[in-house]
Parts: sequence; structure tokens; C-alpha cells
Amino acid sequence: MKSVVTGGAGFIGSHLTERLLDAGDDVVVLDNLSTGASRNLESIVDHPRLTLRRGDILDAAAVADACDGADRIFHLAAAVGVNVIVDHPLDSMRTNIHGTETVLEAARVAGAKLLLTSTSEVYGKNTADALAEDSDRILGSPLKSRWTYAAAKGIDEAFAHAYWQQFGLEVAIVRLFNTVGPRQTGRYGMVVPNLIGQALRGAPMTVFGDGAQTRCFSYVTDVVPAIIAIAEHPDAYGQAFNLGGAQEVSILNLAKRIKQLLGSQSEIVLVPYEAAYATGFEDMRRRVPDNSRAHSLVGFKPATSLDDIILNVAASMQSALIPPAARVMAPGA
Ligand SMILES: NC(=O)c1ccc[n+]([C@@H]2O[C@H](COP(=O)([O-])OP(=O)(O)OC[C@H]3O[C@@H](n4cnc5c(N)ncnc54)[C@H](O)[C@@H]3O)[C@@H](O)[C@H]2O)c1
Repeated sequence: MKSVVTGGAGFIGSHLTERLLDAGDDVVVLDNLSTGASRNLESIVDHPRLTLRRGDILDAAAVADACDGADRIFHLAAAVGVNVIVDHPLDSMRTNIHGTETVLEAARVAGAKLLLTSTSEVYGKNTADALAEDSDRILGSPLKSRWTYAAAKGIDEAFAHAYWQQFGLEVAIVRLFNTVGPRQTGRYGMVVPNLIGQALRGAPMTVFGDGAQTRCFSYVTDVVPAIIAIAEHPDAYGQAFNLGGAQEVSILNLAKRIKQLLGSQSEIVLVPYEAAYATGFEDMRRRVPDNSRAHSLVGFKPATSLDDIILNVAASMQSALIPPAARVMAPGA
């Protein structure tokens, strides 16, 4: 089986690539290394069934070439992270809209199945007790760049659904809720690696807003097998599936728990959104998944506790302090 992973040098994509190789697939990774890194694939870079291609999903020829002969495509490449989206709105929208359309078209031409990674951000400011896949979306103004990620991912889903309806493309969508784990970087605004890194350094732990906003964090090794199982299930095509954590926690309590578990002397500091982002920045107060659809179809159950997530991420960040020798991915190689 030949699988293509766009964004395979990223945080989730690298875990997925490892898992697909373990399952016996030939895997082609297509990544422009914008937020991903070669070192994420360090442990598998010499694997005989892995092909690494440095390329952009906006480059239709590169995408078509990577997808030629593919049985299935996992589309993870995207502009990700609040900092990336807010600082580079135009490039982000181009990648997240045109890039996805390019990948969908390559899947159609190759006759490959497609798995699209969308996001819980599509629900926007909906604070329901448990967001189901058919829940309404409540988004802020499209003139606030913060919302362009949710808007673009929503368009991606609509594109994918239309390819399924019009061409019979076998495409399934997963909506990931804050997924965390080893190799996620805090550089682009991800809260868990940021807070853990600050706690490990003894630096002030910065919590934005009043810290009462809640999230449900899931662990990457719980999520990746579910992504693959959904991609393989014929009843998944044309549908979206939430994949999120089970434990709701406020960001302030998350910071307190990290500090306690790691025995950190850091102080926790509340930072107004205006000081971190442009005036008028909006955040979601709450985001809780209803995972029942994914549970019914593929038995998805987020098993890793928040404490274990924190401890595992902290351990991986500490071991990464001694970086392995950097390996370079050749353009188009
Ligand atoms: N991590 C989460 O909590 C989360 C939540 C919801 C959705 N998602 C989705 O999961 C997917 C993977 O996210 P991640 O957390 O691993 O982030 P990531 O930034 O680590 O991965 C994205 C990868 O895509 C690559 N990329 C970006 N633009 C590209 C382009 N134009 N051409 C080729 N490659 C490009 C990056 O270099 C990176 O390796 C994304 O589609 C994201 O929207 C992630």
C-alpha cells in the first residue's frame, strides 16, 4: 500500500508516518518544512519504505508527482498555530484553501482515498457541553485574521464533501481538538509545550486572558491510530469525525497542574490578549468534543490522562535538549 502524508515532517504527521511504516506501507512525505522539521523524522529517515520530498502543496506538479500511484493520502499540511495565522494571514489562507484543493484534485486524478485533517476551530465560539459534528459554527468577523483558520478549514471540508458528492472521491474528515505530544513545538503559539517549556526553565508561565477558557487535550498516540482507522473505514467517506480529549481543563488550572507535577518554581502570570495579539483578539471560552461518532465507528477512546500527557511531553522536551545531528531533506528528493 502506498500512502502519502502531506505535512509528514510536522508534529502529528511524523507520528502518523512512523505508524504507517510500522503497518507495512510505503510512505511518501511531502512537506515544505515551514513549521515541520527533518529532525521529527530522525528515527525513520533511513527507512527503506520512506521517501521524503521537500515541496509545497501549492505546487500542483509536486503534489501530483508525490501522489502518483498512491492508494491513500493523509492530508495534514497546513498553516497551523495562532501566531502563523495572525502574522501571515494571506499565505495561511492560500495554503489552507488552495493547497487543500490541489491535494483533493491530485487524489481524484490518482484514484486515491483521502483523509483530511480539519479542526475543532471550525466550531468557533460555540460553547456547547459537547460539540457534535453537526453542531452550529459561531465564528467571529472574517476581517479578524484569527478566524481565517477556522474559515479556511471549513471551506476545506466543504471542498472535500463536494469531491465526494460529485466525483465519488473516498474522502473522510477528522476534526482534531487540541492534540499534544512529543515533537509539538510551542513556537507557533501551542499552549502545552509553551507552558511546559516555561515551567522547565523556571520562567514565568504565561496564561492568556483570565485563564478560565477551557480545552480538552488529547494525546497524539491516541489520535493517530483513530485517524488511520477512520481512513480505512468505508462508512467514513463523506463524513466528519471529532477526535478530542476526555478531560476538560481551564488553561489556568492546566498551568497550575504543570507547575505542580514538574515541581517548578515558575510563577503563573496572566497576560491580557491585547498584550499578546492585536487589539480585539478573540478566543474560544470552551471547546468540548462529543467523540461518540468516532467511538461508534472505530472505537476511539482517548486513553491518556492529562497528567500522563504533561509528564510525557516534559520528558520528551528534556531529552530533546541534546538535539540529534540535523539531517537535511533535499528539495524534490
Ligand atoms: N495539533 C493540533 O492540536 C491540531 C488541532 C486541529 C487540527 N490540526 C491539524 O492537523 C494537521 C497537522 O498539524 P500539526 O499540529 O502536526 O502541525 P505542524 O505545523 O507540526 O504540521 C503541519 C505540517 O505541514 C507543513 N506545511 C505547512 N505548509 C505547507 C505547504 N504549503 N506545503 C507543504 N507542507 C506544508 C509544515 O512544515 C508542517 O510539517 C494540520 O492540518 C492541522 O490543521 C492540528
